[in-house]
Amino acid sequence: MKQAQKKYTPDAYGKVAVLMGGFSAERNISLESGQAVYMALQRKGVDAHAIDVDENVLAVLKAGGYDRVFIALHGRGGEDGTMQGALALLKLPYTGSGVLGSALAMDKSRTKKMWQSCGLPTPPFIELSSNSDWKQVGDELGLPIMVKPVHEGSSLGASKVARAEDLEQAWRMASRFDRQVMAERWIVGREYTASILGERILPLIRLETPREFYDYQAKYVDDTTRYICPCGLTEKQEELIGALSLNAFTSLGASGWGRIDLILDRQEQLWLIEANTIPGMTSHSLVPMAAKQAGMGFDDLVMEILNTSMQQEQ
Ligand SMILES: Nc1ncnc2c1ncn2[C@@H]1O[C@H](COP(=O)(O)OP(=O)(O)OP(=O)(O)O)[C@@H](O)[C@H]1O
Ligand SMILES: [Mg+2]
Repeated sequence: MKQAQKKYTPDAYGKVAVLMGGFSAERNISLESGQAVYMALQRKGVDAHAIDVDENVLAVLKAGGYDRVFIALHGRGGEDGTMQGALALLKLPYTGSGVLGSALAMDKSRTKKMWQSCGLPTPPFIELSSNSDWKQVGDELGLPIMVKPVHEGSSLGASKVARAEDLEQAWRMASRFDRQVMAERWIVGREYTASILGERILPLIRLETPREFYDYQAKYVDDTTRYICPCGLTEKQEELIGALSLNAFTSLGASGWGRIDLILDRQEQLWLIEANTIPGMTSHSLVPMAAKQAGMGFDDLVMEILNTSMQQEQ
């Protein structure tokens, strides 16, 4: 793996704000990610400061004399372009994707439309509403079906539906998390995640759970979830999937770092599921796991992500 293009001394980053917490449903995960990032920056000698985001955050950033921002927020209000836009107005460089890539990746439906228009493979889907013809949705997509909120993460509000008559209830449940809900063809196969760091793809991780899918419980609670890395694919397959994932990421205008979730079906056909522009950064999260497999420790990974704010500044 290529190493970081440029090294900076800890002083070169100036005063760094680590934004965490916030208002989204993933607040608690973000507090964990942010704390882990903050500690890593401290260990690296960076002048880092932890900020739990509330409605005063912009005033706090302005008054604090910060030089740059490490965004460790997940979900709406942090990962969706709003914070990125506000920081751009404050002329504060930040880590990761800009306004467009962040906003587009947060919207699973528009992400998929973009991928379809680029000829990238993603499962067929239908946007749902109270007026949906549930039987027709079932006929069109085929059962089972995945129902999920368009703008949520951590599998919150997502469910697998086996019968068309259960679609309405699944839609109702997902609606508790988001005004927009979608139904997607269920793909039977093996699930992988591709971590992106700069222009590189880190080793793929295969996720395996005895549960129906990689839901909230499998992500954060169960100890039966298996993370397989190296993932068992051939080097050639990994390369192909890596290139496609990077393409899928950049096609959204996303940059810097992130993750693409995908499923390889029984015919070895690849399906793109979604893009994350600020994935989890706890010690047991997926991007740190992939970095470790590539020989990069957590603290060095955090520094590489911080470096994406330096590139933005140039
Ligand atoms: N079309 C599908 N077919 C089969 N399984 C699916 C499908 N879509 C999603 N899943 C399962 O549901 C999980 C959550 O879906 P998805 O990644 O779209 O949601 P998320 O809540 O945004 O996740 P993240 O925490 O990665 O942001 C996936 O990891 C996968 O296990
Ligand atoms: Mg996902």
